Amino acid sequence: MAVTSFFRGHGGFAEEAVALDVATHPAPEEMEAAEAACFAIPYHTAWIGLVTRGQLAAGEDLVVLGAAGGTGTAAIQLGRALGARVIAVAGGEEKAKRCLELGADVAIDHRREDITTAIREATGGKGADVVYDPVGGDACKGAVDAIASEGRVLIIGYASGGYYDAPTAQLIGRNASMVGVYVGAYTKPYMSEVHDEVIARWREGKIRGVVGEVLPFDRVPDALEALATREAVGKLVIRTSGS
Ligand SMILES: NC(=O)c1ccc[n+]([C@@H]2O[C@H](COP(=O)([O-])OP(=O)(O)OC[C@H]3O[C@@H](n4cnc5c(N)ncnc54)[C@H](OP(=O)(O)O)[C@@H]3O)[C@@H](O)[C@H]2O)c1
Repeated sequence: MAVTSFFRGHGGFAEEAVALDVATHPAPEEMEAAEAACFAIPYHTAWIGLVTRGQLAAGEDLVVLGAAGGTGTAAIQLGRALGARVIAVAGGEEKAKRCLELGADVAIDHRREDITTAIREATGGKGADVVYDPVGGDACKGAVDAIASEGRVLIIGYASGGYYDAPTAQLIGRNASMVGVYVGAYTKPYMSEVHDEVIARWREGKIRGVVGEVLPFDRVPDALEALATREAVGKLVIRTSGS
């Protein structure tokens, strides 16, 4: 399994693609190709975020934003495997239900509930110990407003279109931290160790790559549309004629 050299313009919508050595790792023999295609980015990101950068401890309350998406579905499962209590935030009843099926203890439908109030309620007023944030914007603000004392907000991405710049004074008042997470900054030997850790949990049956749908190559536009309109759950896989 691999990540393409996409930031240098080498994408993956092709029968042959240029991959990055640092992000190319063996897939277990018994893992289906579609699941392998969904696995590396979400789980390597979840490990670097939750373990390396976030220091998530068993028993902590973990809030996952964008929880039904590609990175979110992995963070739910890895968070559970690491012993955290997982509170998933997603848009819509169906997505919230899917998050519970993936192992979340609580699912917040942000279309019906205010994120800050719902996180406070779900944590008995304490707030979130760790927030996994691939969304940014108002969702991140909602979670920061419900951060626990000594909480960590893991900044993964900005699917909403922009990051949220939290007020420094608010963070100081809670002894809280905004923590940058970027998988691309780590070396191959370190990422190989991370890969072994997540594959070990896959072999134990604790985590799975979430294949939302497998689509033929001529439906690439439909896949992109589903991501843009927030209909997709997990990862979408494109099957080329050679795969
Ligand atoms: N730091 C790193 O190393 C790293 C690694 C991997 C990915 N990322 C970044 O993480 C971000 C998320 O990746 P992903 O694979 O999880 O994406 P995804 O599968 O598209 O999921 C993102 C989720 O964000 C929510 N969302 C909120 N506003 C949205 C909008 N305007 N358009 C689309 N979705 C919106 C949606 O949830 P609801 O509809 O349920 O609200 C959606 O399920 C991206 O910015 C990506 O570049 C960073």
